[in-house]
Amino acid sequence: MVLARFDHVLPLNLHHTAIAVRDLDATLRSLAGLFGVEPLTREVVAEQGVEEAMVPLGGSYLQVLMPLGSDTAVGRFLERRGEGLHHVAIQVADLDAALAHLVAAGAELVDREARAGGGGHRIAFVHPRALAGTLIELVEVH
Ligand code: CO
Repeated sequence: MVLARFDHVLPLNLHHTAIAVRDLDATLRSLAGLFGVEPLTREVVAEQGVEEAMVPLGGSYLQVLMPLGSDTAVGRFLERRGEGLHHVAIQVADLDAALAHLVAAGAELVDREARAGGGGHRIAFVHPRALAGTLIELVEVH
């Protein structure tokens, strides 16, 4: 089956790459010491169960995620897999259109509807089973 291309939700852009960590302060110190980069924002996103920092890297960001507790999605991720790469976030122009496209394409979604992410952006997650075991976040920037 040939699927419609993604043109209707363009432009696509790598918005951020996220890592899950146990100690946000220590990780930010390491980033500053090793690479000389500092976070632009830092906030608690209760809906996601995390405290997160966004560190600008070129035209994109490194997102550093620390769970607020072990009973959160990122907390469970850390217990199962340890620290490291958590997800890749793709910016789309129209998140609702992107989700409709993915549903039509048969992709397994974590979120069938947009929810609130950090920075006031609208986000939704695509299940890792849809793409090579990799958790993908879609971001509509506001
Ligand atoms: Co993210």
